[in-house]
Amino acid sequence: MASDADDREICICYHVTFGKVVRYTRQNLIRIKRVSQISQCYGAGTGCGWCVPFLQKIYEDLLAGVEPEMKMSGDEYRQRRKDYHKKMGIERPD
Ligand code: FES
Repeated sequence: MASDADDREICICYHVTFGKVVRYTRQNLIRIKRVSQISQCYGAGTGCGWCVPFLQKIYEDLLAGVEPEMKMSGDEYRQRRKDYHKKMGIERPD
């Protein structure tokens, strides 16, 4: 699957898919100077903060000319987010 067609949610807080973030970042790569600017893609990264390192990796991959990919299953990603919330004391409905 092409990364920009990947419909797994990368920002679960705002239901933003991996593909949407890749498309947005690719289309705006010249303008984007910091990962926080990716939040203009449907609010990605502005909730619990779990996905921010993954948004950063997409940005860095595209800058380096590497096709971004989601390296874990959607289930594993969700579980790791839950673990992160528990560790950080964040209470969110999932
Ligand atoms: S998963 Fe993106 S901010 Fe919570």
